[in-house]
Amino acid sequence: MAMIAYKCPQCRVTVVDINEDKIAAWNSQVLPIYEPGLDEIVRKIRGKNLFFSTDIEKGIRENDIIFVSVNTPTKTFGVGAGMAADLQYIEKTARQIRKFSQSSKIIVEKSTLPVRTAETIERILNAANKGVRFDILSNPEFLAEGTAIRDLENPDRVLIGSRETQSGLKARKALVELYAQWVPKERIVASNIWSSELAKLVSNAFLAQRISSINAVSALCEKTEADIKEVSRIVGMDSRIGPKFLNAGIGFGGSCFKKDILNLVYLCQYYGLEEVADYWEAVIKINEYQQNRFIRNMIGAMFNTLAGKRICIFGFAFKADTGDTRESPAIYIAKWLLEENAAVVITDPKALKNAKLDLAEIDGGNILFIEDHYKAAKGCHAIAVMTDWSSYQKLDYQKIYKSMEKPAFIFDGRNILDHKRCFEIGFNVYSIGKPPMVHF
Ligand code: UDX
Repeated sequence: MAMIAYKCPQCRVTVVDINEDKIAAWNSQVLPIYEPGLDEIVRKIRGKNLFFSTDIEKGIRENDIIFVSVNTPTKTFGVGAGMAADLQYIEKTARQIRKFSQSSKIIVEKSTLPVRTAETIERILNAANKGVRFDILSNPEFLAEGTAIRDLENPDRVLIGSRETQSGLKARKALVELYAQWVPKERIVASNIWSSELAKLVSNAFLAQRISSINAVSALCEKTEADIKEVSRIVGMDSRIGPKFLNAGIGFGGSCFKKDILNLVYLCQYYGLEEVADYWEAVIKINEYQQNRFIRNMIGAMFNTLAGKRICIFGFAFKADTGDTRESPAIYIAKWLLEENAAVVITDPKALKNAKLDLAEIDGGNILFIEDHYKAAKGCHAIAVMTDWSSYQKLDYQKIYKSMEKPAFIFDGRNILDHKRCFEIGFNVYSIGKPPMVHF
């Protein structure tokens, strides 16, 4: 919404939320999320045409277009628990919109939703027949965290799905015109509303599937002395495949991939497509397998016991350039290490606050959170790289090596360090999909 306000100075954008603390943070000097470039934009336009408020009733009443961006977590209860999307917040929002609206509005689904949710929203909105019209559009968001501003300024595509009725098409046109203020028209894709809802789920499923594919191959590389970096470079040179999203690692995290695939799997099961459901579910299984494999490799390399050893986790965010730790592989690895009775030290440039929250329930005093990498690694038996922060490539590993217990190990779960150099310094180096480099 900050980007829309920034690019469309003639529009007035108000972001409303029930969470008072969050809105207060959006109105303060310290924004509640870290995203490169966002601070500058918010600072430029806040109070001019971008506002943050908890007055939801006024927000609904006074605006012509409402973007519904509430969360749709995986359901934790009842039918579909652990798989289906929990749509209670979407439904509550639709009921609020109906209650407070005094004029016709365009309602835009921004949240990622199961296909055919627009039908539910339409039914709820039109149930009271107050003489106001609601047109529903689907406009899923494809930005990735850490590069959100760049992705929004220069998107591969903006997708707008609508009903193909006269008023549906009119609503679609209004939203196209908004984006057309900065996005070239050929990148604004219009479709029917169900294609739009499904295309978002499928886009995330395809991205995650690429990661699981390369991770599955990394396991085979480790058995055969093939090198996953070479394999992925060669495979990616086929222009039909392309080079992106072929980095093997500890597995994907983030708030979207797992949730959206589970949602897709549930939809397939709902429609009786068991084979299709199984196919997509395998993407998640390989992701779990990759993390499981990583921890087993670690135990095996460190003489079959981690008990009493001190392990330093380099990076807790689910990817670089964000403080977000949702579904971060580091959470699972940290928990496993603690189960093995290891002492865990966590360092991360942006995610320590979230790491503390994630591990609060199991932190029995065996976890240290230290921002300085050198201090964090001091006295440790091993370093496990969990996040691809570029700053990790620039550290003085000689200095780190000297301060650690020997034999010292590096487990590079992101394949980002200079393994040869680390080995020459004295580390035993284990990476993903490459032969280990060991001194014994
Ligand atoms: C993703 C989609 O990219 C985005 O289009 C959608 O709108 C939201 O979900 P995001 O979760 O922010 O975005 O990050 P992304 O860059 O896709 O990375 C997801 C995870 O996959 C991270 O844990 C990342 O480290 C991992 N990853 C990515 C790999 O392991 N290997 C790769 O080659 C690429």
